[in-house]
Amino acid sequence: MREHARPSWTSGRLVQSHFLAESGDTPGASDATFPRLSSRPSDSPATLTVVGDVHRWWRKSDSTFLERTRPDLSLFVGDLGDEDVEIARLVAALPVPKAVILGNHDAWQSFGRKGCTAKLREVLAAFGEDHIGYAVREVPEAGLSVIGARPFSWGGPSLRSPEVYDEIYGIHTMRQSAAAIVDAARNAQHRDLVILAHNGPLGLGDETSDIFGKDFGKPGGDWGDRDLALAIQRIEGFGLRVRAVIAGHMHHRVVHPRGAERRRFVRRGDTLFLNTAYVPRVRQTDDGEELSYFVRTQWRAGECVAIEEVWVDMHGDEREANVPKFVEIAGLAPVVDETQE
Ligand SMILES: [Fe+2]
Ligand SMILES: [Fe+2]
Repeated sequence: MREHARPSWTSGRLVQSHFLAESGDTPGASDATFPRLSSRPSDSPATLTVVGDVHRWWRKSDSTFLERTRPDLSLFVGDLGDEDVEIARLVAALPVPKAVILGNHDAWQSFGRKGCTAKLREVLAAFGEDHIGYAVREVPEAGLSVIGARPFSWGGPSLRSPEVYDEIYGIHTMRQSAAAIVDAARNAQHRDLVILAHNGPLGLGDETSDIFGKDFGKPGGDWGDRDLALAIQRIEGFGLRVRAVIAGHMHHRVVHPRGAERRRFVRRGDTLFLNTAYVPRVRQTDDGEELSYFVRTQWRAGECVAIEEVWVDMHGDEREANVPKFVEIAGLAPVVDETQE
């Protein structure tokens, strides 16, 4: 572990020779203007900073970090809390550009009751258009459109509560859900897309430690989202490029085999898959300091040029940064039977 390390930009396997010499995208903390005007030199990359499953681990210093570094967009993959209005309001109030996809825990009681609770409605209202389920957020600075996949995903073959989806989105099958993701992509202004999802797609492995492999209950099996896999096939079928799928949900430490770590960074063809669910996202160092986890991605003209896992201290300062290793997965996306629910 490199304490106090600054980002070390090295040529990597991820995007050969594209890693950058410097970020060039950190306006001073005194620059409090928001929304920000374009002060970035035209040739410097745009930054999308990802916050994985929160599960109530959110500190004031995390807000400070985002406000100080001012990514072009902050992405939240959901599971803020268990249908927790308080934590959702905290995130919704962050004075930074953000896009959120809510997770299964964010609709925990709604799914139990098979109907949208007042609390979930309150959370959705708090986020407004920042909650991008089945919607698009344009990031012209990055040359990207960010597409929101299905919110509240539990993973696996079922929607769990079609009633909740029907009530909020008028969707009650996997097939309709895939079509809604595709419709969002059709409305995108860029050919290069990032998909923000709570859980990743089917087709990336069925071992417990695979990126979206099932590690609980009867362990083993692919727990990826069927609708998302189908949507990606169709989106790529009409010439759009899914550059990255950014998700969480399947936590980094697996239940079976106990204590093993999940594979979290995968590349298949030209698409990167990131599972940012490092849970809990705050860890203690040997000297007793608490650091919290972010994933910083940088983009230029629709292409990913750098990815780092970043650890931030109680003052909102970056303390560690490392370049993750991506595992290459050969082959094509699975053919998903779209008639299967
Ligand atoms: Fe989670
Ligand atoms: Fe989850």
